[in-house]
Amino acid sequence: MSSTTPNKILQPLLVTVVILGCFMTIFFTYFKPSNYYWLNGQSTVSPHQVKSSISTTKNESVITVLVWLWPFGARFALDVCSSKYNTEGCFITADRNLYKKSDAVVFHHRDIHGDLSNLPSQQRPSFQKWIWLNLESPTHSPLLPGLNTLFNLTLNYRQDSDIKATYGLIVPAETEEDFVPPKKDKLVCWIVSNWSPNHARIKYYNELKNHIQIQLYGRAFRRYLSNEDYAPIVSSCKFYLSFENSIHVDYITEKFYKPLSLGTVPVALGTTRQNYENFIQGDAFIHVDDFSSPKELAEYLLFMDKTQDMYLRFFKWRRHFKSYPYDSWAERMCHVCVYLKLHKEYKSINNLNKWYWG
Ligand SMILES: *[C@@H]1O[C@H](CO)[C@@H](O)[C@H](O)[C@H]1NC(C)=O
Ligand SMILES: *[C@@H]1O[C@H](CO)[C@@H](O)[C@H](O)[C@H]1NC(C)=O
Repeated sequence: MSSTTPNKILQPLLVTVVILGCFMTIFFTYFKPSNYYWLNGQSTVSPHQVKSSISTTKNESVITVLVWLWPFGARFALDVCSSKYNTEGCFITADRNLYKKSDAVVFHHRDIHGDLSNLPSQQRPSFQKWIWLNLESPTHSPLLPGLNTLFNLTLNYRQDSDIKATYGLIVPAETEEDFVPPKKDKLVCWIVSNWSPNHARIKYYNELKNHIQIQLYGRAFRRYLSNEDYAPIVSSCKFYLSFENSIHVDYITEKFYKPLSLGTVPVALGTTRQNYENFIQGDAFIHVDDFSSPKELAEYLLFMDKTQDMYLRFFKWRRHFKSYPYDSWAERMCHVCVYLKLHKEYKSINNLNKWYWG
C-alpha cells in the first residue's frame, strides 16, 4: 500500500510537465524573437512610452520618397498618389528636413551640378536608396564622372532600368468600339523647337520637304504653339512627324505618344521599327525605315491622303486599345513608391556611366 502512494503523485506531475513542455515548444516556435519585447518589457514600459515609441519609429507600411531636385526646376503637386493614382501608403515630399527618414531620394540628372555640390551633405542612412532620374537621351545628358557609383536605382525610359519610365503606354480600352479619328484639314504636321543641322531628323526633313507640303510649328519656325493650341492643331493633321532629337534604343518620347493619343498617325524617326513594336502595335504608325527614301515616304503619304479607307486602317488597333501618355512627374514618383514596396533588396549601380553613355 505504501509503495503506490508516490506513483499517484508522480504520474499526474509527469503528465503536467510533458504538457507544459509541449506548450512551451509550440509557443516559442510560432513567436518570432522580435515579438518578445513585451514579455520582459511589460512591467517597465508605461502605456505612454509605448505610444510615443510607435509615433517616432518609421511607419513600415508608408514609403517616403524625397524629391531632392525638382526636374528642370519646375514644382509639381506632390502627394497625389492616393487621390489621383489609387496608390496607398506613399508619402512623396520635397522637404529636405525629412532626409534621414526617407526611404528613397530622387535626383533629376539635368539638375545635378557638375561638382555634385547640390547633393545631400549628410550621411546616407543605411536603408535609403538614391534614385537616378533621367528621361533625356544620352546625347542630351551631360556625363558627370562623380555619379558612376552613387546610386541604387535607375529611373529611365530604357527597359533595362530598375524603374521604367516610358513617355506613354498602350492599354486595353474599357469598351470595344471603332475609333473615329478627329476631323482633318492638314496632311502632315511637325512641331520643332531645337534645330540642329546635324540631327538626323533635320537631314530627313530637308529632303522630305521637296516632295510634300508640311505644316510647320514651333520655335524653330517662329510659329510657337501654346499648350491650349497643341491638341486642336495636332489632331487636325492626318500625319505627324514624330522625329526624335537623337536615336537610342527605347527612346520614344511624347513626340510619338501625344499625337498617337490624339488620333493622328505618327511618322516615326528614331530607334528601329522592331524596337517601336515592343511598345506599340505595328499598324498604328509609319516608320521612315519602311521607305527607301524621303521621296518614297512623301508619295505614300500623298496616296494615303486620297484613300480614306486605307487611312482608317491605322486606327484598327484602337478598337481594343488606347494610348495613354505619361507626362506627370508626380505619377512617376508614385511608381517609385510602388517599386520600393515590392523591392526591399540591396542594390547598387556601380557603372552608371558605362551603362548609359557606353
Ligand atoms: C501606417 O500607415 C498606414 C497607411 O497609411 C496607416 O493605415 C497606419 O495607421 C499607420 N500606422 C501607424 C502606427 O501610424
Ligand atoms: C546604395 O548604394 C550605395 C552606393 O553603392 C551603397 O553604399 C548603399 O549600401 C546602397 N544602399 C542600399 C539600401 O541598397
